[in-house]
Amino acid sequence: MERTVAYRFGSPVEAPWFCDRAEELKAVANRMRSGIHVMVLSPRRYGKTSLVLRAAEQVGREGVHTAYANLLVATNEAELAAVVVQAVARSVLGPLRRRRHGLEEALRHLHVAPRVSFGPDGTVTVGLDPKTVGGAWVEVMGDALALLERASEQRAGVLILDEFQVVAGIGRQGVGGAFKALADAARRTCLVFCGSHLTLMEGLTKGRGAPLHGMGERLLLDVVPEEAMVPYLRRRAGTQGKTMTTLAAERIYRLADAIPNSVQQLAQATIEAASESREVSLDHVEQGFAAVVERQSAGFAQQYEDLAAAPTQQRVLRALARNPTSRVYAKEFLDSVQVANANAVTTALRALDGKELVARRGREWHVADPFLRRWIVDQSPGL
Ligand SMILES: Nc1ncnc2c1ncn2[C@@H]1O[C@H](COP(=O)(O)OP(=O)(O)O)[C@@H](O)[C@H]1O
Ligand SMILES: [Mg+2]
Repeated sequence: MERTVAYRFGSPVEAPWFCDRAEELKAVANRMRSGIHVMVLSPRRYGKTSLVLRAAEQVGREGVHTAYANLLVATNEAELAAVVVQAVARSVLGPLRRRRHGLEEALRHLHVAPRVSFGPDGTVTVGLDPKTVGGAWVEVMGDALALLERASEQRAGVLILDEFQVVAGIGRQGVGGAFKALADAARRTCLVFCGSHLTLMEGLTKGRGAPLHGMGERLLLDVVPEEAMVPYLRRRAGTQGKTMTTLAAERIYRLADAIPNSVQQLAQATIEAASESREVSLDHVEQGFAAVVERQSAGFAQQYEDLAAAPTQQRVLRALARNPTSRVYAKEFLDSVQVANANAVTTALRALDGKELVARRGREWHVADPFLRRWIVDQSPGL
């Protein structure tokens, strides 16, 4: 029996938890090699980071310099630039280690003096003080790009900008535009923009007037298909000495709405519920589901309570939990959420969508998280 856990969720996955995505992987890796920019878009936790890191690892083995910047923590322009420089420095300086001469050479061209520290193992960390970056943030990002391109010499480099939706919330105008300028300046570097929060990302990338419009290729990442995920679930159960029936695996996949993260989370809870049995059954799936909802109930209560100032949003969420529908402007729906007109529903849906609490598949609105959906239904019998 393998000593690792059966399933993984909550953070990017690699083998043996990475399933399928052969086509997407090929597409992203090819763009990386040829220096064509690409945007990888999906709701949260569909597997964007896992995908691009795997592609980066592939091309990295071929000698392509790859830098990974996670923008999630950045709260202003200077911090964005600092995160990008840090990512590039980590990638470029990795193999140099203690060679301080190379380090000086590499950092000589920065507009802003970096903070350099050496770890006990010889690794080099380059930081930027956002205070000193200040208004020079655009130049600093350009420096980072130049650093990457110099290190890559004749080859392509790769700069991954993960959690790019953060950019939509920073500054007034022009932050997106600065990345467009960066993309235009990148001659031999493939910029990979990853973002969740489709509404925000579309505002940045799609349609006239969007700052990143027409730049690179858009890859809309869908869920991992059932034909790949069901055998994966069964195989992983096998590593724990258990047999999972196809029926049980399919039930997991569907109850979790096919969302990769939720599928793995439910699968893990199911295996735990089946700790005493060799065979994983539909009952274990149900117990696993209840366990996940129970474990998250405090967080769900908080999310629901956070909407207390907007009772219409609470009612819309409740109605969609009970009954996903495309007919959100029908009289019946308006009555059920106790509003007088369609505008009120539009406003509530937009707000809930902005918090990624609801989502639309095709035309149908539903509560985005299958576990939250169950929690709401359980909490509000008769409402
Ligand atoms: N290719 C995949 N195969 C199986 N599960 C995956 C895959 N990609 C993602 N997941 C699941 O989704 C979770 C979140 O993945 P992540 O790459 O962090 O998503 P994102 O970056 O889109 O938020 C992982 O912990 C894993 O459970
Ligand atoms: Mg991610």
